[in-house]
Amino acid sequence: MRRVVALFLLFGAVSVAGAPTNHATFSDAFVRKYFPTIFASTEAPNAANCLDKVFKNYELKKHINVKCDETDGLDTCSGLTFVSHDDKAIVIAFRGTKGKLQLLVESEEIMYRNKTAWYGGGNVGSYFAHAFNLIWNDGMKTDLNLLIHKYPTYEIWVGGHSLGGSIAALAANFLISNGLATSSNLKMITFGEPRTGDKQFADIHDSLVPYSYRVIHKKDIVPHIPLNGMEGFHHHRSEIWYNNEMATADFKECDAQESPFCSDSHLDFMIADHHRYYGMYMSFYGRRNCTGDPAN
Ligand SMILES: *[C@@H]1O[C@H](CO)[C@@H](O)[C@H](O)[C@H]1NC(C)=O
Ligand SMILES: *[C@@H]1O[C@H](CO)[C@@H](O)[C@H](O)[C@H]1NC(C)=O
Repeated sequence: MRRVVALFLLFGAVSVAGAPTNHATFSDAFVRKYFPTIFASTEAPNAANCLDKVFKNYELKKHINVKCDETDGLDTCSGLTFVSHDDKAIVIAFRGTKGKLQLLVESEEIMYRNKTAWYGGGNVGSYFAHAFNLIWNDGMKTDLNLLIHKYPTYEIWVGGHSLGGSIAALAANFLISNGLATSSNLKMITFGEPRTGDKQFADIHDSLVPYSYRVIHKKDIVPHIPLNGMEGFHHHRSEIWYNNEMATADFKECDAQESPFCSDSHLDFMIADHHRYYGMYMSFYGRRNCTGDPAN
């Protein structure tokens, strides 16, 4: 980790000011109520056990688990689709592989060497593109098309934690550039999303997806990987930063793609802050089908 910190002294202060044209409004109450549990459900053997905690009148479609990375043994990534009638929302959420997260934190440059052209334009990390394509083709496409056809007035919520956040960003961009969602009916929320693609991808993402928030817990290291500018990777908008334990709606919004005023104002980062968002340890809690103490 020492190398990451040292490099940050060189690159951390460099930022690109983006003109804020994001007219959506971030709601702590909305995100806090739903998204930690949605992301825990992507980890759960029984996703419904998790979703039952916050959704009442909902239908769960397929929870897709695919082996999205040959190097990670039996580890899978996953995608989940459901519709909440109370919220008039169709929801898709993603989870990446555990092994890849480890690799990302240990040697960020290896994981980011390969890029793939994305649908709307620009280039993105090949791992994320591959993961999305596998999940999409394994049944999310069918589920989502069906739901959109059946409930054309519903909003579409797209999200993910960690590597799943990057897959969610690709999904949001894909759905809008392919006409399955519009810039005004899609809401994208990610927690601890690493840099996903290059500057061109970020610019296109920002014009396609005005409701796009990357939530960051305090010193979470993952959003700082790979380092700004390394291999051309660049964040999209907008950063929502909680420089605290997320117990209250005490956050700061930074609308530049790369702002020095939110999480980049720290020079030291940690993995511990990556696991817990809004007081929930999403992976452990989810793997227990959302039973026991959400914080551990
Ligand atoms: C990048 O692509 C090359 C050539 O396709 C492949 O051999 C290599 O394993 C890939 N690296 C990663 C980290 O995915
Ligand atoms: C979670 O639910 C699945 C499916 O119902 C079950 O097989 C598994 O044992 C449960 N795991 C835990 C830790 O509760």
